[in-house]
Amino acid sequence: MTFPTTRLRRFRATPALRALVRETTLDPGDLVAPLFVCHGEKVRRPIGSMPGHAQLSVDEAVKEAAAIASLGIGGVILFGIPAKKDAVGSEGYSKDGIVPRALRAIRAAVPGLVLWADVCLCEYTDHGHCGVLTGEGAATRVDNDKTLPLLARAALAYAEAGADIVAPSDMMDGRVGAIRRALDEAGRSETPIVSYAAKYASAFYGPFREAAESAPQHGDRRGYQMDPSNGDEAMREVALDLEEGADMVMVKPALPYLDIIRRVKERFGVPVAAYNVSGEYSMIKAAAEKGWLDGERAALESLTSIRRAGADVIITYFAKEIAPLLGPGLGKRTP
Ligand code: PBG
Repeated sequence: MTFPTTRLRRFRATPALRALVRETTLDPGDLVAPLFVCHGEKVRRPIGSMPGHAQLSVDEAVKEAAAIASLGIGGVILFGIPAKKDAVGSEGYSKDGIVPRALRAIRAAVPGLVLWADVCLCEYTDHGHCGVLTGEGAATRVDNDKTLPLLARAALAYAEAGADIVAPSDMMDGRVGAIRRALDEAGRSETPIVSYAAKYASAFYGPFREAAESAPQHGDRRGYQMDPSNGDEAMREVALDLEEGADMVMVKPALPYLDIIRRVKERFGVPVAAYNVSGEYSMIKAAAEKGWLDGERAALESLTSIRRAGADVIITYFAKEIAPLLGPGLGKRTP
């Protein structure tokens, strides 16, 4: 008796057959593009470690957002470079800070685009940490509970300026609950929170700290961001953030933490975002510049892998470059 032979190569024979059986797809609408906004006018200050990206003044950010929207990209996430930094990061929660200004301008000029606002103090503090400091000398640390009301004020200022989504990235305990309460009390119960729930203390944030001018001036972020060795702890972070009212949870960085993305998706079944961070972008860009790999293919493969792992949404610096290579995005007919 002969048995039929399983041949997996039959569906690999042509592009059309491969498209037919493709399990994971990438749509411009799943991508979110980060923008760095600064004061001034007609400013486009290139970020050396992130080719293709620049700090943009509000007028330039509006143009960039319009171009991004026309590609069907799912949204932009804003990071601010303040005029002045201080110990408590006050421009971060000022209603007239750089991010609220940019939000108002983009909201008016590009009404349909989903606007995310990253909520953190590190771009705004003179010491570069994600919260306010307490203690002296070697005992200096970030004061969790003193930071919470400032983050809540920032989130509210951004929601009032037009943010569709607020996304706390500071990793203080209890911040999702504090932000939820502040939004609700101000009549903003409709504003969703995407929490950077499992955010690791990563070497891959290097280029971002140049882009956002937010490197810690002393010490590091290991006292509040997660230890890269831990997976179970990420589940606890996610569970707590969901309990406090997070509407979507994020894993960050993405590629070194695909296992975490998969576990979060399987365990909680909630919308999951992944942040394909600056270092993940710059590595590919640098290698492509040297001719060591095909940058476009490497980017597509990375993003597809992050989706395959379980991410619904990907924040990525590749958004604008990759979206034109993909399907029609928002224009797609739905039932
Ligand atoms: C702010 C923040 C960081 C990133 C996003 N929000 C930097 C950090 O924690 O140092 C990193 C994003 C990237 O590397 O692309 N807390």
